[in-house]
Formats: sequence, C-alpha cells, structure tokens
Amino acid sequence: MLPNVYIETRKNPLYTKGGSLRFEEVAKIVSGDVLDVGCGFGGLESYLKDCTYTGIDALPWTSGACIDVMDYTKQHDWVVALGIVETCEDLPALAEKLKSLAKIGVVVSSCTRCNPPFISYSEQDMLGVFGGEVIHLDEEEILIICRM
Ligand SMILES: C[S@@+](CC[C@H](N)C(=O)[O-])C[C@H]1O[C@@H](n2cnc3c(N)ncnc32)[C@H](O)[C@@H]1O
Repeated sequence: MLPNVYIETRKNPLYTKGGSLRFEEVAKIVSGDVLDVGCGFGGLESYLKDCTYTGIDALPWTSGACIDVMDYTKQHDWVVALGIVETCEDLPALAEKLKSLAKIGVVVSSCTRCNPPFISYSEQDMLGVFGGEVIHLDEEEILIICRM
C-alpha cells in the first residue's frame, strides 16, 4: 500500500517548499479554466495569470476541495496533475480520467527517479500512456503536455 500523504520526501528541489519551476512552466502552457488535481497547498494558483483556478485533492487538510479525481466529473479547459503519478498504481486509468476531464489539454509531471515507495514512471512510460510532448524540468523531473 502506497502512502497517500502530502509530505516532502523527494530529494528533488522542485518538490521542496520553495521549488517553483514546475509551476512556472505550467503557467506558460495553460489558460482559461484550470483544474489542479492533487493541488496540495495550491502552490500553482499564484503562478497562473488570467485563469480560473479549481484545486482538488484526495486529502482533507489541503487547500483544495476534498475529492479523489477518479470521482470527479466536471470538465475544465486544462487539467494539471503535478506530483500525483508517483502514488498511482494504475497509470492508464488515471490518464483516461484526466483526459476525460480536459477540453483543451492535460499537463502531468513525473519524477522519473524518485525513491521507493514512490513509483518512478519514465518518459517512455508517460508518453506511452498519455502521448503528447515532453518538457524536461531537470535531470529527473518531466512534464507531459497532452492536447485533446
Ligand atoms: C506530492 S503532492 C503535490 C502537490 C502539488 N500538486 C505540488 O506540485 O506541489 C501530491 C498530492 O496529490 C494528491 N493526490 C494523489 N492522488 C490523488 C487522487 N487520485 N485524487 C486527488 N488527489 C490526489 C495527494 O493527496 C497529494 O496532496
């Protein structure tokens, strides 16, 4: 059973409190009505310009509405999911769900070399399931951009 808790366990500085590169990159891509899946404490929101922001998270003590994305049904222009694949054991099901919620596209991060018990999905794994383009944030963190 994987832990489903928001703790900063990664070595990757992108996942430290001050790490903002992933948010800066996502803000360059998305527009309109944005759903932040696994929003944690909503770090992405302040980086978005002229967007409508909705954050959801499976855990009750985050800043978002408490709901598992698999139970969420409302569509948004863009769906962003940063730091959630590392606790997802069924990546195809997650990809299908995220795509079903997006009118324009999906942006998903993957820490390709994270420490167990977290799951490391490689660039090939992610592209195989999501398709789309890749942005390398650093030597281990990628963003996948999948347009509908
Ligand atoms: C590592 S944190 C990342 C937080 C934020 N996105 C960031 O980049 O700083 C991952 C968050 O995703 C949430 N999460 C994981 N699986 C989820 C799911 N199926 N539905 C909603 N939230 C989920 C966790 O509860 C956790 O708060």
